[in-house]
Amino acid sequence: MTPIFFDFPQPTILGSRLKQKLQAQAAEFLIKPFPDGETYLRILSNVKGKNIVIHATLFQPNDWILNLIFLADGLRAQGAKSIGLVAPYLSYMRQDKIFHPGEVLTSKTFSSLLSHYFDYMITVDPHLHRYHSLDEIYTIPTTVVQAAPLLSQWIQDHVSDPFLIGPDQESAQWVEEIAGVYPYVILEKVRHSGTHVEITWPETLNFQEKTIVLVDDIISSGETMIQVLRKVKKNAPICLALHPLFAGKAYQKLRAEGARQIVTCNSIPHPSNQIDLTPLLIPPLKKYLS
Ligand code: R5P
Repeated sequence: MTPIFFDFPQPTILGSRLKQKLQAQAAEFLIKPFPDGETYLRILSNVKGKNIVIHATLFQPNDWILNLIFLADGLRAQGAKSIGLVAPYLSYMRQDKIFHPGEVLTSKTFSSLLSHYFDYMITVDPHLHRYHSLDEIYTIPTTVVQAAPLLSQWIQDHVSDPFLIGPDQESAQWVEEIAGVYPYVILEKVRHSGTHVEITWPETLNFQEKTIVLVDDIISSGETMIQVLRKVKKNAPICLALHPLFAGKAYQKLRAEGARQIVTCNSIPHPSNQIDLTPLLIPPLKKYLS
């Protein structure tokens, strides 16, 4: 059966590659705001009895999560056989603990919402830190694919004599795998606030003439990478990240701090995208659709 593919809320390069590889039918729908800001949504494709795939990078989700839920609910009401979510970047994973009394565990609320409306979800390297598996908060089947082999391949193809730096203990899980045979170091980080981090360096560290590659899962405010860049800028380092959130002027700030190159995966569309996630996402998608 030909699946129906939604690239939501708007077309993306990754979405169009996934649709093509799946030989899926492009969904037709109409979405527009009413004058008061509420959403008008009309699904034009006939979805009755069909397998539906929605590719939606859950970046800045507050702007449009409600529209995604309206879509999933509408598809269910119109008789879709299955509704899968491909969310290469999975948001609301970092509030994975109540750090201060009164905080809301938004990771849990968000996962309950998605679990209610979707039949399965595929994502790429979600921020699993205090949770060890998505099963701890998601009640639907989920598949996590790991981008490390692609990042590793990018380094092999583009960087001579690399030395990898992971800015904090959380990055160790990616950096160790991406590094393979190359040398690396994992630093210590203390986060004082969303935009204030402090990095501790080992007493002796000699990079010689190596090409430094800073590796992290997410670049958000950019502060983590900026603190590292300030120490190593004379080596003209490269910043490599899975999920390019680039809040505010983070991208420009990294350039200004001496990043020679900033390379990211296309989990979130951005001019720095150089690593295509299509080959990782297709096998699990085909499995869910079979
Ligand atoms: C932290 O826990 C993550 O692994 C990243 O290091 C973090 O999200 C980066 O955030 P920022 O760019 O705001 O320092």
